[in-house]
Amino acid sequence: MNITIIGSGYVGLVTGACLSDAGHKVICVDKDKSKIANLSRGQIPIYEPGLETLVKKNIKEENLSFSSNIKSSLNASKIIFIAVGTPTSLEGDNADLSQIYSCAKEISESLRDESIIIVKSTVPVGTCDRIEEIISEKNPTKKFEVISNPEFLREGSAIRDFENPDRIVVGTSSKNAIESIKEIYKRQIKKEYPIIFTSRKSSELIKYASNSMLAMRIIFINEIADLCEKVGANVEDIANGIGLDKRIGPHFLNAGPGFGGSCFPKDARALIESGEEFKAPQNLLKAVIDGNERRKLNLGDRILEVIGENKKVGILGVTFKANTDDMREAPSLSIIPKLLKKNINVSIYDPEANKENINEFYGAEWKDDAYSVAKNSDCLIILTEWNEFKELDLKKIKDIMTRPIIVDFRNIFSLKEMEDLNFEYHSVGRNTINTK
Ligand code: UGA
Repeated sequence: MNITIIGSGYVGLVTGACLSDAGHKVICVDKDKSKIANLSRGQIPIYEPGLETLVKKNIKEENLSFSSNIKSSLNASKIIFIAVGTPTSLEGDNADLSQIYSCAKEISESLRDESIIIVKSTVPVGTCDRIEEIISEKNPTKKFEVISNPEFLREGSAIRDFENPDRIVVGTSSKNAIESIKEIYKRQIKKEYPIIFTSRKSSELIKYASNSMLAMRIIFINEIADLCEKVGANVEDIANGIGLDKRIGPHFLNAGPGFGGSCFPKDARALIESGEEFKAPQNLLKAVIDGNERRKLNLGDRILEVIGENKKVGILGVTFKANTDDMREAPSLSIIPKLLKKNINVSIYDPEANKENINEFYGAEWKDDAYSVAKNSDCLIILTEWNEFKELDLKKIKDIMTRPIIVDFRNIFSLKEMEDLNFEYHSVGRNTINTK
């Protein structure tokens, strides 16, 4: 099928690369001309494992191309994905839909008859209705469908998630659109991944409810971890014990420094806003957002309690999780400024984070590897769970540190190995090892 994807950010790019790999002819469109020029040469602006290889392969096979011209792209295809950003608005917690609506206006000028517009961007309930209105107002005689098809792609494993989805959700009642969707996702359907057809509004809400439910699980297990620390229980055993109950399941029960990223905080806030708008308050979610913010702020104090002021600490990982370069709403953005304010000498290593323009880290020193960060430090703080941190030579680390203290907010080491190595070890929801 000929497909146009508008918005070549994270979601648009992954969708375009994967659909072209399934044999569709895909044009990814973006207003940013320099981004399009780089993408046409196979240069990817984000860190996402496997994406560059997939893009290059499909450019070479002539299934994937890039353009900044919506009009000519729409001439070539009746299937149009919208994958532009819906960030939190500057005025409040609601989603800023300006990019979506200006995209709808632009589409309406060059839409072919019987086009299918597939909204992949995360949008508040009712947005697809509004897109339909905008296009109809501009173009009353045109036949078209607007359908909702949210994405469930985790940064760091987006290609795997696209190719092996837990489910594909489609909001439409149009038979024609359903047939097109089945053709678009033929590869996933062949592998018998579930596909759910529902109303547009339900589909829009499924996306928000999924992210919000996951965010809730994380804040829940984090609060249980706090209790474990007070009473001497082990949060990993609790997660295992509750996760084996099939009604609960084992995933997303890793206690840590609180959730971040571009999606959970933004989407939970937007769902709270929809609840206010339609007078169906989302009280549980309000507590989730508050609890998460509080947690991120308190972690700096926890570190200060362990080491005292005027010390030297090394930070391993500053992105919001491992396998990404994304810093948005990362716990490090709350923790590191707190340490710097207390005259702590901070050095940082992260395998992928973009070092430039992070004002919050002004005064900290970036290093090129974990050992340089550990050298002469009083404490090593683990904020993300990169595999390379799990594989560190801990004996060597201990030898080069001034004091052998590790504060591990991702529980990447076992209590036993820390005890055997004589580290003072603070983790989340588990006993502190203090060999002094
Ligand atoms: C999330 C969802 O998982 C995707 O399904 C969704 O498509 C995406 O948002 C989106 O809306 O675009 P992502 O933000 O990439 O994906 O990250 P996750 O892997 O879900 O992690 C989110 C946060 O929760 C991270 O800060 C992570 O460290 C934290 N987390 C996750 C925990 O603290 N504990 C866990 O057990 C799992």
